Amino acid sequence: MKSDILASRTWRYAVKKYDYSKRIETEDLEVIFKAINLAPTSYGLQPFKLIHVKGDEVRAKLKTAAYNQGQITDASDLLVFAHASAVHPLVIDRYFNNLIAARNPNQEEVETYKEHVTQALTKWPLSQQAAWCDKQMYIALSYGLQAASDLRIDSSAIEGFNQQRFAEILEIDTSLWKPTVCLALGYRSENDGTQHLAKVRLSEEELIESIA
Ligand SMILES: Cc1cc2nc3c(=O)[nH]c(=O)nc-3n(C[C@H](O)[C@H](O)[C@H](O)COP(=O)(O)O)c2cc1C
Repeated sequence: MKSDILASRTWRYAVKKYDYSKRIETEDLEVIFKAINLAPTSYGLQPFKLIHVKGDEVRAKLKTAAYNQGQITDASDLLVFAHASAVHPLVIDRYFNNLIAARNPNQEEVETYKEHVTQALTKWPLSQQAAWCDKQMYIALSYGLQAASDLRIDSSAIEGFNQQRFAEILEIDTSLWKPTVCLALGYRSENDGTQHLAKVRLSEEELIESIA
């Protein structure tokens, strides 16, 4: 329904205070994970991974590395998104293994295509590769935010944290993965005043330049 699209997007806001006693059903969480996994990415490579942080103790440590933002510990669930540090062989191999399993393509054609993709992306400087992986990841983040709000599950994207400390706490090998953004998921607290604030957005004229 057309009206549902805007209703869902208007209902969502960046929650600051969660009600930890309200937990997300496993089935709903699974839908959000699947939606994230269905996000499109360039070449389909999905150069990122998600860490579902379950332990309260670990989340408490992460909070201290995230300017004590309460969403880290008070949301029902916390996902840390980590993009690939470069278009490294793990990223390429993962994709091509899945391609072969899903479509059983001609082996020679796959090898040629794999070579083409590898050349196209790994010729860039490493910093550009990392930035490209990061961009792909944010499409998936956006799918997660949207899927959650379609289910009327609250969310917060959180970039305000010390990436190095997160990597240490989560024992992430930063030569492969860079934790860059979190997705907190759960249910808003009645006391979260942010839910009553008006949205601040560009006017359509500011957003869209029309060219005849
Ligand atoms: C990628 C990303 C990172 C964000 N990081 C933080 C954060 O660390 N802390 C925070 O309070 N809000 C964070 N926000 C929330 C934004 O401030 C918020 O989405 C924006 O002001 C628009 O408000 P709305 O989402 O309620 O419509 C983040 C949002 C995005 C999309």
